[in-house]
Amino acid sequence: MKSLAVLHASQLVTVAGPRRPRVGPELSELGIICDGGMLIRNGKIEIVGSSAEIENHAGDAEIIDARGKVVLPGFVDAHTHLVFAGNRLDDFERRARGDSYEEIAKAGGGIWSTVEKTRAASESELLAQAQKHVDWFLRCGTTTVESKSGYGLTLEDELKILQVMRRLKQETPLEIVPTFLGAHAVPREVRADEYVDLVVNEMLPRVTSDSLAEFCDVFCERGYFDIEQSRRILNRAKNLGLKLRVHADQLSNSGAAKLAAELKAGTADHLEKIDSQGIATLKSANVQPVLLPGSVYALGSTCYPPARDMIAAGLAVAIATDFNPGSSPTASMPMVLSLACTHMKMSSAEALSASTINPAYSLGRGDQIGSLEPGKAANFSVFDCYDYRELAYWFGFPQAHSVYVKGKKAY
Ligand code: NIG
Ligand code: FE
Repeated sequence: MKSLAVLHASQLVTVAGPRRPRVGPELSELGIICDGGMLIRNGKIEIVGSSAEIENHAGDAEIIDARGKVVLPGFVDAHTHLVFAGNRLDDFERRARGDSYEEIAKAGGGIWSTVEKTRAASESELLAQAQKHVDWFLRCGTTTVESKSGYGLTLEDELKILQVMRRLKQETPLEIVPTFLGAHAVPREVRADEYVDLVVNEMLPRVTSDSLAEFCDVFCERGYFDIEQSRRILNRAKNLGLKLRVHADQLSNSGAAKLAAELKAGTADHLEKIDSQGIATLKSANVQPVLLPGSVYALGSTCYPPARDMIAAGLAVAIATDFNPGSSPTASMPMVLSLACTHMKMSSAEALSASTINPAYSLGRGDQIGSLEPGKAANFSVFDCYDYRELAYWFGFPQAHSVYVKGKKAY
């Protein structure tokens, strides 16, 4: 593989720093190099520095001229539901008429309607649709996504979704981190307790013996899985060697954030309804919050999670798209940056750390991705602007110029 030399970026945003997630004022330290460059060999970053320094070492490397452009670490999207069939246009229309997420679910829409379509789809149909989703992520500058199952809700259908993720990982440039979310909803045909038994006794052992997931997640929420059921599933997952993430305190303050802390989960996600006690509990167990403003926006709510309180408490905040057909149909991390700044009062710099290095740590990959530093994978994007703050400022249209994964052009 030929070496690459990136030269003359108006800003090379390295996000270099300590070998751990960023907290407090560290979130604002981006390690920007003006007229910056990078030398890349065998898919890894070898040198990061001024363009003059890189030119000295470039030899016969292929040159990427980033003049007038910003170079950033590829976004790491730590919460997505990447694989599903169809869409939820009916829900979208109902919401526009004023119905709530819960009302729509009761009336036959919601997660269940996507489950029916996903069960009916073959593995190759799901793969074809998911390849389109992968393309959307890459075009927005995202190079790694966490991806949850959860629209199958039978052993067979959950395995089918996880197999699609495995194939996407092999067949597309996007790096995919699989999460088992069998406990996304209770399927219509069984009682809740029977379904929890199925997840614990059949699904989790099979998913782990086939090495199909790294993480286990549960939708811990009124009408989905309560604290006791969630605890049972997550404990079993942990015993089988999976790391934990939790959909917590999204629609109600159910104490799920506290459960995440009790079980030493890696992340607690959503947290729109968390209170100050919940925040303190997350801090005491070093759980990373993953905030999903795209779902607040798309549900037409104004209840954004209290990011400022979390940053003040010293939590290593991450932001993510929550890409899914129901509550957050976006693959755009720049849109999420815009929402984080406009509605959660994060600065552009904080939002950038929260979409690169912090989610990388939340996925157990902080030493490999999430910043532009020697030794890390050459996952980066080139944006058609002079200043990184323009990413969150201009909104609603694409600004990515090109995107590289392990030194190879992916868009
Ligand atoms: O993260 N909260 C649960 N799961 C998704 C919604 C999934 C759906 O509506 O299809 C979420 O918002
Ligand atoms: Fe989600």
